[in-house]
Amino acid sequence: MKKLFLLLVLAPAVQAQTVPTFSQDIAPLIFQHCTSCHRVGEVAPFSLTNYAEVSSHGQTIKAVTASHYMPPWKPDPRYRHYLYENTLTAAEITLLRTWVDGGMPPGNPALTPPLPVYPAGSQLGTPDLVVPMRQKFTHQGNGQDMYRVFVLPVNLPADRDVAAIEFRAGNKRIVHHAIIGMDTTAQAAALDAADPGYGYTQFGGFGFTPLETNFAGWVPGAQARFYPAGLGKRLYRRASLLVLVHYGPAFTTQTDSSVINIFFARSPVTRAVRTVPAISPFALTNGPFTIPAGQVVTFHASQLIPVEASFLSVLPHSHLLARRWKIWAVKPNGDTIRLVKIGDWDFRWQGNYRFPSIVRVPAGSRLEADITYDNTAQNFANPSSPPRTVSWGESTTDEMVLAYFDLVPYRPGDENIVLATAPATVPTPNARLGLTVFPNPAAALATAAFELPRAAAATLTLLDETGRTVRTLALARATPTGPQRWPVPLDKLPAGLYFLRLEADGSSQTEKLVVQ
Ligand code: HEC
Repeated sequence: MKKLFLLLVLAPAVQAQTVPTFSQDIAPLIFQHCTSCHRVGEVAPFSLTNYAEVSSHGQTIKAVTASHYMPPWKPDPRYRHYLYENTLTAAEITLLRTWVDGGMPPGNPALTPPLPVYPAGSQLGTPDLVVPMRQKFTHQGNGQDMYRVFVLPVNLPADRDVAAIEFRAGNKRIVHHAIIGMDTTAQAAALDAADPGYGYTQFGGFGFTPLETNFAGWVPGAQARFYPAGLGKRLYRRASLLVLVHYGPAFTTQTDSSVINIFFARSPVTRAVRTVPAISPFALTNGPFTIPAGQVVTFHASQLIPVEASFLSVLPHSHLLARRWKIWAVKPNGDTIRLVKIGDWDFRWQGNYRFPSIVRVPAGSRLEADITYDNTAQNFANPSSPPRTVSWGESTTDEMVLAYFDLVPYRPGDENIVLATAPATVPTPNARLGLTVFPNPAAALATAAFELPRAAAATLTLLDETGRTVRTLALARATPTGPQRWPVPLDKLPAGLYFLRLEADGSSQTEKLVVQ
């Protein structure tokens, strides 16, 4: 095995053959983009972890990747990029199609990369505080969705600054997404007491406006992350965390017991991150927020940003009638900052999209948004048949128009803060070499993927946390353009944080790699 690795790392990267193979071309792609959900115990209905599983779904995979239904990533990557973005390039979609149409050759099984290691506990380390659901919740196997809020009291000796909030789904087969809020009153407890059973049923929100409506959130495949040093949120000692869980339809009765992991800030939090619903019905220029039965309506929102702000993320929120979202900012000098565009809104796949680095929005800029709702009978997602006139509200048949932004007042240098504090699986948009490393975290073996702008000599080195070279992995005199995949053997390395550096043609790119 050792010899094989040596051969592989020293040989120039393997050229794309006419028909791609599972082991060399398809498995790395599926493991990077699909197995976060398509494996046992996860949200997807079947696994895609080996040749037999993938090839038995070959035709459907070809169809759902071509239509961009899978992987389910809603923001348009041509508009802007985010951390942990999960999309396929046109070349990757073609690769899948060519493989399926070419008879799905398995290739040499010895060359199949290992399945990524998925940590069972926290993805971030050992939490300082674990806030569990106190009881198991039973989700009936009646084929219906369920939206349930659980009230989790915190009980700390003192208020604490928090650097990361991580939701861990108990039963991932049914937990579809979760929104975490924080309540410092007795209102949530009262709603819980009024509804029989553990928690209370509430669609899309908490049923009232708690102190924090968006403390954190989770969708399958998402990674929790730390705020940059000095930034964070405050957890009040007497607060209750509220978790709104969307349980997907199940056909056998299931139970769930999810937990929230809290990581306290290691350095003092001097800048509290605020989650601001800057786009709301109050910002509409063509309100009121009423969507007549049988009509398609586009609302426009415009909101002044009075002080210079550093934006960390954007979270658009609406219910089932929404079809399209687009949010941008216009600076006082007329320049546009693109924030998010979703062309096929799907209530089930919404997220808090974190920018790769902080977005600086000058004072006097205006946030602008177009949001389109389809309240006709042709909209399959319309919960009312026949359609009825809809306005603002918390229930399934009501609508919302909200976009939250995580932000802090701007300070010089903020735009240089990189928000990828957990391993990123996508290159930052300006990375010319397109280096990505996966799986990440990895044990024993990782793969480095990259693409050079032009043929050049390339060097791949592995550095430790202090920047010391621990391994020179590959030196190739003439690496061609086009997608390259080089193995990165990690055997005998102590667990920890490493950096993988690719140098070619006078440029270099470095990515974090966590070795387990
Ligand atoms: C974020 C989680 C997630 C990721 C990532 C994901 N899937 Fe899925 N997939 C699902 C879920 C959930 C379903 C069930 C259908 C639904 O809920 O839309 C599904 C359904 C499917 C189906 C069946 C569709 C049908 O109409 O029968 C295929 C095929 C599929 N996925 C392939 C893929 C492939 C290929 C990838 C990677 C390129 C991928 N999925 C990535 C969650 C995911």
